[in-house]
Amino acid sequence: MITDDLTALLALGSIALFVVGLKRLSRVRTARSGNALMASGMLLAVVITLLEIGLVDYRWIIGGLLIGAAIGVLIVVRAQATQMPEIVARFNGFGGAASALVALSLFWAEVVEPTGETTAAAALGNAAATTLVLSVLIGSVTLSGSILAELKLRGTIEGTPQIPVRAVLMAVLALGGIALGATAVFGIDDPATAAALVVGLVVASVLAGLVLVLPIGGADMPVVISLLNSMSGLAAAATGFALSNQLLIIAGTIVGAAGLILTQIMCVAMNRSLLNVLIGGYGGEATEHGEYEGVVSADAESAAMVLEAAQSVIIVPGYGLAAARAQNAVYEVAQALRKQGTQVRFAIHPVAGRMPGHMNVVLSEAEVPYELLFEMSEINQDFSQTDVAIVVGANDVVNPLANTDPTSPIAGMPILDVENARRVFVIKRSLSPGYAGIKNPLFERDNTVMLYGDAKQMLDDLASELSSNVR
Ligand code: TAP
Repeated sequence: MITDDLTALLALGSIALFVVGLKRLSRVRTARSGNALMASGMLLAVVITLLEIGLVDYRWIIGGLLIGAAIGVLIVVRAQATQMPEIVARFNGFGGAASALVALSLFWAEVVEPTGETTAAAALGNAAATTLVLSVLIGSVTLSGSILAELKLRGTIEGTPQIPVRAVLMAVLALGGIALGATAVFGIDDPATAAALVVGLVVASVLAGLVLVLPIGGADMPVVISLLNSMSGLAAAATGFALSNQLLIIAGTIVGAAGLILTQIMCVAMNRSLLNVLIGGYGGEATEHGEYEGVVSADAESAAMVLEAAQSVIIVPGYGLAAARAQNAVYEVAQALRKQGTQVRFAIHPVAGRMPGHMNVVLSEAEVPYELLFEMSEINQDFSQTDVAIVVGANDVVNPLANTDPTSPIAGMPILDVENARRVFVIKRSLSPGYAGIKNPLFERDNTVMLYGDAKQMLDDLASELSSNVR
């Protein structure tokens, strides 16, 4: 329907949109446009593929587009910023399922439907038959793993149940699935038997996804989701090989590589290995609360008096800010301080919260200007010249044990050095530990004052104290 040259040129344009979009996703300021560029690249890829195929029944295509778009809009409109990891998990699952379904439909169309007593390898070629099996395997693992990850993040499934001989079970399921798939596409020329074996491959892969994710703690889920995201890309790339669709291979590879790099970045920032995350059991119950001595606390009124005299303030948001949905309240405090002439900045730790960019997303919901947000490397040295650091619902990312206790689970994790500020206010409900489940000696420091309470409530109180004093 269109010339090969034009197809190649359009495909190049689509790939350029993916690459430039991905680059722009790496910075908060440009992320929105990066997302739009990548979505346009994907739309262009779909159009190119349809033009290449030529004669298709467009009623199915339009129907699918409308249903898919409606589901996407519904999910996103109903979602809150704090639910972003769950949504990413669901979309990964959909991606894996789509790749597996396309591979299965290819198997159906080329092998089962013609009932021609031929193996899939003979009908499709060895390479396509191999990648078809991989696509079904990886896509199904991604689907079941992602659904379970979402349920764990929602708290529908709790705990980190350990599965006996899990590694052996995983190996049996994965190798068993591959054996069934390989026999189906290379060894069996009876379509009905081959189809039954492919069903076995799907079942083994779905079970493997469940066994992989079940023992992993809810708080480690963002790392697992990032890994599953990478797998959904690999499944798409495998489907691309099966279909000889270069665009799908490239798009899938980009997702696969980006997901893997993100997984690695998260593990490094948490000072954990991927193996350690996948072994599971971490981040469930608190491991050691520890006794605290000499902890000082205050109320909003006395904290506001200190803040009124402050020339410079750094706010450190953490998971508790997102959990309390306190983004608007924290910005109100920042605005009240700025009104009185105080310099206010936000320090963003790379793994604050429960997903990459969690704090950026939450703060952008309240329209906190990007100029006020500083990455850890840009601001960490400034705490020593800062009057007040306000820690809002953060714990592990400001825990000095990371620097001082080599046996701590967060040993070596870079932290925000809030303790160097002249005064540190910590807003949280109690002395309970954070995600790593350990004591935080920051709370005992002479210059630290605890402001106990729900983050939103405490910040609302602080904002009204500050604004009533300005008037
Ligand atoms: P955490 O160490 O998890 O601490 C959060 C604190 O928020 C808790 O101590 C809790 O104390 C407090 N909190 C909860 N609800 C609150 C509310 N409604 N109001 C006020 N405070 C509330 O958080 P963090 O400092 O942001 O560190 C993130 C942790 O997650 C790190 O250990 C990181 O490695 C891990 N992690 C991060 C990621 C990514 S990519 N961000 C992925 C996986 C794991 P109270 O109960 O006393 O209120």
